[in-house]
Amino acid sequence: MKKRILFVDDDRALTRLVQKQLERAGYAVDVACGGRQGLAKYAEGSYDLLAVDQSMPGLEGLDMIRILASRGPLPPTIMVTGAGSERIAVEALKLGISDYVVKDAAGAFLDLLPAVIDRVLERQHLAQENKRMERELAQAQKLEAVGQLAAGIAHEINTPTQYVGDNTRFLQEAFADIDKLLGEFDRLLQAAKDDAVTDELVAEVEAAVRQTDLDYLTDETPKAIRQSLEGVQRVAGIVRAMKEFSHPGSDQKHPVDLNRAIQSTLTVSRNEWKYVADVVTDFDPDLPPVYCLPGFINQAILNVIMNAAQAIGNIAGNGAPGKGTITVRTRRDGDWVEIRISDTGTGIPEEIRPKVFDHFFTTKEVGKGTGQGLSIAYSVVVKKHGGTINFETEPGKGTTFIIRLPITDQSLKAES
Ligand SMILES: Nc1ncnc2c1ncn2[C@@H]1O[C@H](COP(=O)(O)OP(=O)(O)OP(=O)(O)O)[C@@H](O)[C@H]1O
Ligand SMILES: [Mg+2]
Repeated sequence: MKKRILFVDDDRALTRLVQKQLERAGYAVDVACGGRQGLAKYAEGSYDLLAVDQSMPGLEGLDMIRILASRGPLPPTIMVTGAGSERIAVEALKLGISDYVVKDAAGAFLDLLPAVIDRVLERQHLAQENKRMERELAQAQKLEAVGQLAAGIAHEINTPTQYVGDNTRFLQEAFADIDKLLGEFDRLLQAAKDDAVTDELVAEVEAAVRQTDLDYLTDETPKAIRQSLEGVQRVAGIVRAMKEFSHPGSDQKHPVDLNRAIQSTLTVSRNEWKYVADVVTDFDPDLPPVYCLPGFINQAILNVIMNAAQAIGNIAGNGAPGKGTITVRTRRDGDWVEIRISDTGTGIPEEIRPKVFDHFFTTKEVGKGTGQGLSIAYSVVVKKHGGTINFETEPGKGTTFIIRLPITDQSLKAES
């Protein structure tokens, strides 16, 4: 399909020339005479690119661009200025236009314009491709993370399931014993009713009570029931955390209890850190709901937690005794929420600090890391939420990643 261009100029003769020239270059072209008509036409149609003359009576090009920019993201826009008004073009560039062309008396700009438009649209196309690829990569990384977590989650569920099973088998046997005993008591009751209780019968019932070890059963049965309920609750908790963690990636931001989201992320990833670290949480009880995309935020936090566990694991691998610690803190700071994830791992060596957020930068061996964790965390926190992510680190001591998110949505204008 042809790309649609709107050309805005008050000089009718010129608009006709430009229209012909651009149509010859393969574009579908509409023209508007003057800034006001330009705004109206632009609102009606969907255009791939806008070319606007600066000097027009009534509404000048720059003002028209200002109005458009205040309404939302500017479409690819090119400004056409008279010679000597490059200063205005610079103003327009600051507003976000893609390029400008200087109108010359000889009309050479007519030949130049199609090439400039080609370039702008090509650049835009590449940027869109890039964004699409980033999205797909993030999606793939999330699936990979879920796959990686799955085995650990299965293990986490298996342990309580096993003791729920053991306890239920115990209760089954206990009930069979008690049932048998009840049969003996029933015989005694019948005999009492018939006034036929013999010493022999009483001795038999007593023997049955002894054999059943009733004291043991009355001690152990409530314990078995309590443990089973705990086990079922653990499993239910893990399942709930999984649901919350893999919350379908909605495109709409909404208020989220981040303490809870982080807890869920810690629960689903437990098997990834529990062998190397204890996790300490210090959650702000008054943390306000944060306007965000929970699926993406969970993914960013998971990536940082996995790194923390791996950094501690690397120390343990060096023969250090005992487990390390991962500390997760949340705090409100004015209009922001701050999440701090500290580890007692290796720390980040100075020479790689500038690179850790780069796509595919990793110090891990093939199969252990692909270098996407932090670049995705960056894109989630900074690009999608208008937040910040950085770190403090000391080799040999550990690292703290600090994620700051605006409580309300300030990133509406940021790309998403
Ligand atoms: N908490 C940390 N402590 C020490 N080094 C870290 C820490 N977090 C990140 N790094 C360093 O930054 C690099 C990049 O991290 P990133 O999460 O982007 O990729 P990765 O962990 O190597 O691979 P992936 O996350 O894709 O599995 C890591 O390879 C590691 O060298
Ligand atoms: Mg990582």
